[in-house]
Amino acid sequence: MTCPLVRPHLFSRIRSLFRPALAAALLACSQIAAAAVELKVDFKAEKKAISPDLVGIFYEDLNYAADGGLYAELIQNRSFEYSATEQASWGPFSFWDLVESEGGKGRLGLGNARPVHVNNPHYLLLNVEAAGAGVGIANEGFDQIPLEAGKAYEASFWAYQAYMGRKWGGSPEEEEQPMPMRARLENEAGEVIAEAEFLIAGREWTQHSATLVPSESTDKARFVLLAQKAGGIAIDMVSLFPHDTFAGRENGLRKDLAQSIADLEPKFMRFPGGCLVHGQGIHQYYDWKDSVGPVEQRKAFRNSWGYHQTLGLGYFEYFQFCEDMGAIPIPVVSAGVCCQHAGDSPHRGQEGLPLSEMPDYIEDVLDLIEWANGPADSEWGAVRAAAGHPEPFGLKYLGVGNEDAITSIFKVRFKMIRDAIAKRHPEIVVVGTVGPFASGEDYDNGWEFTRELDLDIIDEHYYVEPNWFWENQERYDAYDRESAEVYIGEYAAHEPDRANTMRSAIAEAAGLVSFERNADIVRFASYAPLLSRRGHTQWRPDLIYFDATEVYPSLNYEVQRLFSVNAGDFALPFRVSGLAEGKKLAASVVHDSESADTIVKVVNGESEAISATIDLSSAAQRQFRMRAIIFAHEVASAVNRDGDAPVAVPEEESGSVGSRFERSFPANSLTILRLR
Ligand code: AHR
Repeated sequence: MTCPLVRPHLFSRIRSLFRPALAAALLACSQIAAAAVELKVDFKAEKKAISPDLVGIFYEDLNYAADGGLYAELIQNRSFEYSATEQASWGPFSFWDLVESEGGKGRLGLGNARPVHVNNPHYLLLNVEAAGAGVGIANEGFDQIPLEAGKAYEASFWAYQAYMGRKWGGSPEEEEQPMPMRARLENEAGEVIAEAEFLIAGREWTQHSATLVPSESTDKARFVLLAQKAGGIAIDMVSLFPHDTFAGRENGLRKDLAQSIADLEPKFMRFPGGCLVHGQGIHQYYDWKDSVGPVEQRKAFRNSWGYHQTLGLGYFEYFQFCEDMGAIPIPVVSAGVCCQHAGDSPHRGQEGLPLSEMPDYIEDVLDLIEWANGPADSEWGAVRAAAGHPEPFGLKYLGVGNEDAITSIFKVRFKMIRDAIAKRHPEIVVVGTVGPFASGEDYDNGWEFTRELDLDIIDEHYYVEPNWFWENQERYDAYDRESAEVYIGEYAAHEPDRANTMRSAIAEAAGLVSFERNADIVRFASYAPLLSRRGHTQWRPDLIYFDATEVYPSLNYEVQRLFSVNAGDFALPFRVSGLAEGKKLAASVVHDSESADTIVKVVNGESEAISATIDLSSAAQRQFRMRAIIFAHEVASAVNRDGDAPVAVPEEESGSVGSRFERSFPANSLTILRLR
């Protein structure tokens, strides 16, 4: 690390009048030799306005984050659209079993002649030759279906009568009869713990539903749907949905998981990806229009991460979740190019939509803005209103592109999209992209292109080893304040074994203080990825792990939460002296106008405690009430284990301090001092 004191020219490009980041960078600076470490806050200097929305979340549907994750649907493959293009062993009846009860005999057929909707082409044709005690299908959900006794679950399905009795030559009387059906919840022993009856009549697709309340709790239930007479019945969109969702939303989110996200108090949410956005082939980008409207009309398709996405959790649900959490929505659309690794061609896969298709694609992007912000009587505003949200969502930021290679293919299309948005919706801020890494060709070209187009904000990504955050404390000090703002859209500290260690969490805390000191240009920052289901983890590390019944936040989660709930809107300059060469200590000082607190954050990445004097003597007052929050673990390699208590939790103490006081900052720790 170079000491900023001996490179004054480095800062000549910095617009801001004062340099708290410079002071902070001194923390790790070898040239300073003093007996004791001191952090001296300058209350007299002008405060720097910083982003009040710095810490948010990046949500991508990978690791089963949506279906089998945040989306509360309990049935897997509910619309018989699973296919071998998703996973070689999958097909329309994956995760379904044929049930032939007590003398029942039947078979499963696949229909596509009269679908519920053209976007949902396949359905089940259940042929019952002998009814016995019932013939039908059973589903065990995503690994398992957990149910709570006494809670309400909505069982529903779409159906029409194909024929009754025998397919050919049945009696006209029989043909007139409705098909009796039963929906059941069974426990692991196969005992019925809730049941409802239905009569299916007629040749029109109709939705049937009933509320089931299980008489006992079980973690491994089975949902069973049985026809009770001989005949043929077409079935689609079989669903079992808890009534108790996050914020009580219909078609909503799994409550415990959504709550763990909401507890982060994210100031914004970027969605739905990630690589998912631009897709693994040129027409495989995430089309927001496929994800809105009635769920049976949404267009399920292969997720970039090699599994099935129903899009039951779609743009409406994402925007609503943002609203429920008080987070700024930052949707991301494809820049008209697919992933540079698409088509099984690493680094050579980028292709662009044919230019002849770009006008239509651009209209789709503009329609998204109308859908989010337009009046309820506009074409797309009406779709939002029909979903139950007549008021606009207040979209302000729109990401265009994700980690794309900055080629001429990309540039042409990005510019077309950006220009169209600027013309029709100058109120929307387009977030650009500068490739997948913290430096290198795409980063350099991306920044050059950003300056050329005079973009307001760009998205940087980096997954790096923990030390990187210590070695790059000065990174944003040197950024040009006249150029675009920065959204650090994806970042994480990666250990060689990709474990969520205390070392990685503390390294991210070091990153976060450097972002905070520079939050005059670093507008947003989000750790990535957010969610991962146990048994379906494709990418590690993640912030929150979960299984069917439990949520396991990582140590890294705690760091994100602590920064989010202890944010400020002004940065104060400060200076650190006396730190021995190479010591990993970093800090930030912010002021929060709402609470009127001065918030000092100190991150110690050493394996031993560091004592420092905190000097507040330039403040008008002599005494401060102080609440200290300490998140520490003496072992850098410590990790949380599923089912065990977290190895480290924030601890609090409060009292009062004078304007100069000593404090010991423990090994591997983040300490937050809230001074009032
Ligand atoms: O966060 C996981 C992936 O990392 C994202 O999809 C992509 O943008 C990045 O490469």
